[in-house]
Amino acid sequence: MAHAKATILVVDDSESNRSLMRAMLAAGGFEILQARDGMEAIQLTLQAYPDLILLDAMMPTLDGFQTCRALREDPRTHLLPIIMVTALERMEDKLQAFDAGADDFVPKPVNPTELMARVRSHLRIKRLTDNLESAENVLFSLARAVEAKDSYTEGHVERVSNYSTAIARALGLPEDEVDIVRKGGILHDIGKIGIRDDVLNKPGKLTNAEFSIIVQHTVIGEDICRPLRSIRQLLSIIRHHHERLDGSGYPDHLKGEEISVGARIVAVADCYDAMTTNRPYRRAMSPAEALDVLTRGLEKNWWDRSVVERLVALVNGHHLPDPPSATRVGTARIGTGAGLAAGGAGNGSSESGASMVPAAAAAAAAAAARGADKHRGNGDAAGNGLATGA
Ligand SMILES: [Fe+2]
Repeated sequence: MAHAKATILVVDDSESNRSLMRAMLAAGGFEILQARDGMEAIQLTLQAYPDLILLDAMMPTLDGFQTCRALREDPRTHLLPIIMVTALERMEDKLQAFDAGADDFVPKPVNPTELMARVRSHLRIKRLTDNLESAENVLFSLARAVEAKDSYTEGHVERVSNYSTAIARALGLPEDEVDIVRKGGILHDIGKIGIRDDVLNKPGKLTNAEFSIIVQHTVIGEDICRPLRSIRQLLSIIRHHHERLDGSGYPDHLKGEEISVGARIVAVADCYDAMTTNRPYRRAMSPAEALDVLTRGLEKNWWDRSVVERLVALVNGHHLPDPPSATRVGTARIGTGAGLAAGGAGNGSSESGASMVPAAAAAAAAAAARGADKHRGNGDAAGNGLATGA
């Protein structure tokens, strides 16, 4: 397959070095850009988005290491291939280059054959990365489009992703795992694309057969995303975001730590968002009410306690944006306050009619008693939490 001409940015403070590099790369048919220092390199990178950077290490003002680090920290350029070119030969200099985020290292004086081989190799990887990125973007767009199947869940996936990310960080997960959770929050309900609209948007009670159709959104979601190896770490989130620690969730009835941390986080975030947003058949709960319901779920061993505790702390510390339609009422604490006993609100397919308790959860109680929340789109109030919906 023919590819567009690759663009290479050569960064060196010496004009003669830049000319030399240009001459060496001439045979490759690349488009060559040039920068005289780190600042110019960063500006040009953000303007022209080259496919690869050849970066001199020793330059005035911003040196190659600093430039490399700056480009790595910017999400717009963090995947851009960077080859450091330097006369420094000590091992610690090479380690410093890799530590700054360089992908490769070419010593001066530069061997033209070696330079061309390394450039071609990194451009090949860049093309694969670009393809993967666009495939991922298609899936993320699809996940957002799924929301359009249910007009009452607008913004749900972004909020679930934001809440999940905040919880993951509060739990101290490393950034790469936080990123998995963030993406999982967006993709968790992508399988709803395969669920019939009349079932997904049914306003009343679901039959057993309809519920078994809803359950399938977890499996369909995993099937959709499985071919893309770059997001295989998200699969457990997509498949298991309706599992519960006591084994009463779906689709695999996993228990405890059989459920990945990411799935445990997204399950709680999904439920929280569902409860704090309006539905046509009930009003949104306040954050305090929703947290109280989640806390009741801890008594049933449905949720990961540390996840719920982090969410409570984030909400009470005002570290999360207010839900779109709920008003803040009081402050929730783990294990206190009114809430749902949530008796019959299990994983089953019959309507729950959850056993109700006092005031704070009155709205949810009413809705759940009607069975209206159950199995609704996108982790509805009782959805993921009380009655295991979609
Ligand atoms: Fe779901």
